[in-house]
Amino acid sequence: MLTKKQTQVLDFIKLYMAKHSYAPSLDEIKKKFKLASVSTAHYYISKLQDAGFLNKEHNQPRAVSTIKAKQTVEIPILGAITAGQPIEAIEIPDETITITRDEIGKQGKHYALRVQGSSMIDEGIFDGDIVVIRKQEVAENGQTVVAVIDDNQATLKKLYRENGKFRLQPANPTLFPIYRDEVEVRGVVVKIIRNLESQLDQGQSRDEKYVRKIDYSWDYRGEKTKSHTHGIHTYPEMFIPQVGRRLLETYSKEGDTICDIFCGSGSALVESRLIGRNAYGIDLNPLAIFLAKAKTTPINPQKLTKEYLALLNRVGKIKDNEIKQPDFKNIDFWFKDKVIVKLAKLKKAIHEIKDEAIQNFLMVAFSETVRYSSNTKTGEFKLVRVKGDKLEKHDPDVIGIFRKHAEKNIAGMTDFYKDAKKDSWTKIIYGDSSKDNGIKANSIDCIITSPPYGDSRTTVAYGQFSRLSAQWIDVFDDPNDASGVDNDLLGGRATKDLAHRLSSDYLKESLEKIAKQDEARAKDVLSFNLGLNECLKQAHRILKPKKYFCLVVGNRLVKQVRIPTDFIIAELAEKIGFTCEDIIVRNIPGKRMPIKNSPTNIVGALEETMNKESIVVLRKN
Ligand SMILES: C[S@@+](CC[C@H](N)C(=O)[O-])C[C@H]1O[C@@H](n2cnc3c(N)ncnc32)[C@H](O)[C@@H]1O
Repeated sequence: MLTKKQTQVLDFIKLYMAKHSYAPSLDEIKKKFKLASVSTAHYYISKLQDAGFLNKEHNQPRAVSTIKAKQTVEIPILGAITAGQPIEAIEIPDETITITRDEIGKQGKHYALRVQGSSMIDEGIFDGDIVVIRKQEVAENGQTVVAVIDDNQATLKKLYRENGKFRLQPANPTLFPIYRDEVEVRGVVVKIIRNLESQLDQGQSRDEKYVRKIDYSWDYRGEKTKSHTHGIHTYPEMFIPQVGRRLLETYSKEGDTICDIFCGSGSALVESRLIGRNAYGIDLNPLAIFLAKAKTTPINPQKLTKEYLALLNRVGKIKDNEIKQPDFKNIDFWFKDKVIVKLAKLKKAIHEIKDEAIQNFLMVAFSETVRYSSNTKTGEFKLVRVKGDKLEKHDPDVIGIFRKHAEKNIAGMTDFYKDAKKDSWTKIIYGDSSKDNGIKANSIDCIITSPPYGDSRTTVAYGQFSRLSAQWIDVFDDPNDASGVDNDLLGGRATKDLAHRLSSDYLKESLEKIAKQDEARAKDVLSFNLGLNECLKQAHRILKPKKYFCLVVGNRLVKQVRIPTDFIIAELAEKIGFTCEDIIVRNIPGKRMPIKNSPTNIVGALEETMNKESIVVLRKN
């Protein structure tokens, strides 16, 4: 499959050849597409050759002069198909792919679908691949088909006829087949396109100034991510510890002082402590600061366990008239009366603990208990209340939930206490990373961070996610302020207009495309990038010369425009005084973030965000 730009170059070559009977020179291609150099034109030619769109002719002084373009065909992509649970079959042609005729044969009509899910992995069909389907209504036993079952539900499976029934067989040993009396076949798979860059390529029509290296050794699929104190509390978009550690080990050394300028719950800081780096963490969400402190403060597990057992003993004895119920807006909407009383008793018992570190640590388990015993749907980042029957039956065992979390957390702390390097330190700063937070200029050996994917309103609402916990654990002066955090985070306040001086062509191009469809969304995106640019400047200020700054970022989709945040950062950073040394692409196997979200808050109006991220490696000049 070709990128938009590659298709444009191919079309140009074909047209040129039709007109002149010979191919354009590299220089003509360079001029036509305003490419930076002839070598970039050559890059496109070799890409087209590698993909089989142009014949390879060796030993020619001008490779392009001998090109004979192969016959190509444009195929509509009709949407997504699950290689997992069936989804409603809706065919909306949105874009096309161009492939050579040879690849699919001359017969039949074709269409393409994007694959979601992992049920066909043993057939080599992975999440994110594109499958080309030949339209047909019958299939032979064992063929991989687009099958529509029940009420217009489509899925990708291998089809078998057995005892008068159909078996739809997943190619994944962990999944069960689906049996039906009737199956409508809408075509068979004739080609699988493993385009690892497909998501990142969308909307990228400029000459690629930077190169993304796909390196799935950074995925850490299936690896344990909750060791030590990593798993003590959920937080959106947490670093996979292995990624944090590998970056730290590659770009810093023992005894160095590192900084995570968007530290969130502190995953990178935990790893720093485990491998002997001193660390600063900065975040603007009070809940994040609270969690990061608890995760990085080693506590003697014996003392902790003793206090925990005493607490369990105390809590049962607290009388209803001894508690003070918190007072925040809509508390009755989010919690049942009985739950409020139990939580209030638990909170009182935790507050009686004298040792501040132990009190905070047990408050973390309490915070999780607040979320799990509230009337909210679990697994959502935004606050969504359960409804009807489910709400009626909702009768959480508050103390049971607390015990489960506290005991798991104590086990995590036991490991952290044992493995954390005693002579390294962690300092956590509540602050805005786009401003000077008091860290000395040229003092940091390495910055490792993962900024938010975009503004809080349309990606992860950190404030909203944190609100119920924060209201119970007193991390805000006024508990009713909790959601207000979202306005202060990057991109929290849209700009008045779209005028700006940021020096990034990639950003300019994305903003233009988004603004054509929705100016307000373009202003959100601009605001986010203006804030990010200020953060890059501060990072440049605190970092020592020649040292590294690694950012794990997502290229999100807004209004169907893929924003190349990795390239935008590279462009902005180079203006500030960094050199972009690497952009590595990795899959996000287990990161807690919405793969689909609805910025409009209309049920069903889903906008895909992303399942890959880029690690941008910058070096201060
Ligand atoms: C992707 S999360 C970081 C998650 C973190 N890596 C972890 O493992 O938990 C991004 C964080 O940036 C914070 N943030 C957003 N804007 C900020 C700003 N201007 N200054 C400091 N932190 C900010 C958010 O509160 C959020 O915690």
